[in-house]
Amino acid sequence: MPKRHSYSIVIWGLLLASSALAQPMDSIYTTGINTNKVLMQEVEGLNDEAQDKAMLGFSFYHIPWVASPASTTARDGLGPLYNANTCIACHPNNGVGSVYEDRGNISPAYILKLSIESNGSMAHESELKYNGFIAPSAYGGQISTQGISAVLYEAKPRLVYVDKEIAYPDGTKVQLSQPRTETERMIGDLQYGALSEGTIISPRLAPALIGLGLLELLSDAQILANEDRDDSNGDGISGKANRVYSPSYDDFRVGRYTSKASVASVLDQTAMAGHEDMGLTREDLPQHRLEAIAFYLQNLKVPKSIIRQKEGEKLFTSLSCIHCHRPAFTLDNGYVIRPFSDMLLHDMGEGLSDGRSEFDASQREWRTAPLWGIGKSSLTLGKRQIIYMMGEPKA
Ligand code: HEC
Ligand code: HEC
Repeated sequence: MPKRHSYSIVIWGLLLASSALAQPMDSIYTTGINTNKVLMQEVEGLNDEAQDKAMLGFSFYHIPWVASPASTTARDGLGPLYNANTCIACHPNNGVGSVYEDRGNISPAYILKLSIESNGSMAHESELKYNGFIAPSAYGGQISTQGISAVLYEAKPRLVYVDKEIAYPDGTKVQLSQPRTETERMIGDLQYGALSEGTIISPRLAPALIGLGLLELLSDAQILANEDRDDSNGDGISGKANRVYSPSYDDFRVGRYTSKASVASVLDQTAMAGHEDMGLTREDLPQHRLEAIAFYLQNLKVPKSIIRQKEGEKLFTSLSCIHCHRPAFTLDNGYVIRPFSDMLLHDMGEGLSDGRSEFDASQREWRTAPLWGIGKSSLTLGKRQIIYMMGEPKA
């Protein structure tokens, strides 16, 4: 892979816009539309070549891949084991996936990642250094829920909830439903024998793909500037960046994507998704296709930030949400982005531990989820809505 990629179209677009078109930067990157396509709007100012590339990327992103041999060689190579045959199946309208489908089955957007602890061997230590985790020999790093024609899927995820009562300091009590984390309650129908001993299972839900190119324009230094590893400023909140190996940069970088910030570039995550989620190899998904898909995702508008509730904004500040959900960053090009995340990892306590570490992110540490566009989730999901829980909780 080349060491560095030209993500310069966005910047180029900006320069063009600020000089020739004299358009406010906001309208280049943000959209106010209110349909289920709100997260699918291309940024303004792309030239013909860039538009072609984005369109090519979009086609590989949303048209189903098929098993080979097939009548098409453009999109064959799916499987033999996979989770879904398009990116958009898990990221509907580029928005967050739902845990459940309409019929009550667990949706493909809910995946199970697998890992084991290092045994200290050189092979394990090297895997930790470059992949961030160790894949177990049985079932590998992710459970595949589908197989092509005669190939059996690996296993199916399960979700069982238990009621949990929480008391707030003022005495108010609320009932929460907590997913159970015993192995046999998280996974079933294992088709290829037992899991490797000590297998750690971490469920993940496909997030909305918002502002990915803008987050890539944030420099490592800007993210690192807010690091406070030992809470030396005494605000009660520590935060650290994840430092991860990036195959596309062939170097260690500050991670910014996925829930443990273990991926440094959109291209890296696209390659990973092709491999882990769709079973595609490098030959099936060669460099120019990967780059086209990444390019498409890097050049999408973000929803305009609208704050209807002044009261909510005040609370968001006074309750210290902004310590982690940092409202804004100014990019080198002067443009202000509003991801509502510091892109750092925070220790969220034992209750949110998944037992899995990824590079420098410990079992209890998670990346501050960016909140931009969160109000559009019901639009992008459409009729599906965000169903986090189905039916009555059962122990
Ligand atoms: C089977 C479901 C599934 C498919 C198919 C899938 N993804 Fe994802 N995607 C996920 C999940 C789950 C995550 C979150 C992973 C995590 O947090 O560790 C994710 C995360 C991402 C992210 C990181 C977003 C962020 O803000 O951190 C990107 C980018 C992404 N996917 C792109 C793609 C692309 C491109 C494709 C197609 C090549 C694709 N995905 C196919 C489930 C899927
Ligand atoms: C210590 C840092 C920190 C503080 C303070 C904080 N958050 Fe978060 N927030 C996080 C992290 C980390 C996640 C992701 C958790 C995960 O992935 O399981 C998150 C997730 C969220 C999500 C879910 C987003 C999604 O896409 O699923 C919402 C909503 C949210 N926070 C709102 C708030 C609000 C409101 C406050 C203030 C009352 C707040 N947060 C305070 C770190 C913080």
